[in-house]
Amino acid sequence: MNQNNILYMGKRLKLLLNRIIMLYTIKTTPFLKKMGAINKPIKKYLLQFREIEGWLNLKFIPILSLINQFQIDRHIEGGVAEIGIHHGKLFIPLFIFCDENEFSLAIDCFEKQEFNYDNSGKGDYKIFINNLKKFSGGKKLVNLKIIKEDSTKLNAETYLRKVENNKFRIFSIDGCHTAEATKIDLKNSYGCLTEGGVIIIDDYFNHHWPGVSQGVNAFFNEYKSDLKPFFVGFNKILFTNKKYADKYIKFISEKIPPTRTSSLFGSQVVIYGPNDFLIE
Ligand SMILES: C[S@@+](CC[C@H](N)C(=O)[O-])C[C@H]1O[C@@H](n2cnc3c(N)ncnc32)[C@H](O)[C@@H]1O
Repeated sequence: MNQNNILYMGKRLKLLLNRIIMLYTIKTTPFLKKMGAINKPIKKYLLQFREIEGWLNLKFIPILSLINQFQIDRHIEGGVAEIGIHHGKLFIPLFIFCDENEFSLAIDCFEKQEFNYDNSGKGDYKIFINNLKKFSGGKKLVNLKIIKEDSTKLNAETYLRKVENNKFRIFSIDGCHTAEATKIDLKNSYGCLTEGGVIIIDDYFNHHWPGVSQGVNAFFNEYKSDLKPFFVGFNKILFTNKKYADKYIKFISEKIPPTRTSSLFGSQVVIYGPNDFLIE
């Protein structure tokens, strides 16, 4: 057997092993087994989860799935967007959940890494597109819009123009993690969020990226908004309009009970996952 064959066999074996691990994880994690609203392409995506490089807790997918279901049930319409794509690990499920008539918008500086001011991840356009084709359950790349720019130089109007002025129902912020960039990204995403939509912020409680909480807090100090946090867990914090926060809490926690509840910025929030900061 020549070296190329050995390499090929090794890759196949790794792939198989990854799928077996994922199958086992899905079957043995009550959180994942309980996913009532899960659809076929998402199940496939979960099986391939370990093959996509990125930063995402697997257990966030059932939560995302419930948010999607909540919005479908209540006719909360709009597209999905993410700032900070890397290789598309979170964007892919957002894209899958998106109806073919809805827009999905991916924003990353990609090859212009000089705008990645604090070296958070490293977007790669080619890998991202390949991953989208490979892991989106065969979904055609229609109504997909991509912006390859520094998000701190953009505004809500730019995002809306790109998607024919349709607002967004889910907007994830995971780009540059400095306080200033986080504040700008949050302001812009709020500016194009549909009523009842959800903003996802990554790393708010991650002590490696203190700029994120500083930026979110600065947003609330400087701008008037009706945004309320309602969910904390799996390294994400979720916000929606005041009117909807309790409704999301009820819907999610009835299906998947939270670890505990608390309050943040004066709103009730449900908290998921263990408190693992004390574990060495
Ligand atoms: C932590 S990674 C995103 C991880 C991704 N959400 C996932 O699911 O794995 C951060 C991304 O933000 C991008 N980024 C960093 N600074 C940026 C900026 N100023 N404007 C746009 N994108 C930026 C990086 O290129 C990188 O792809």
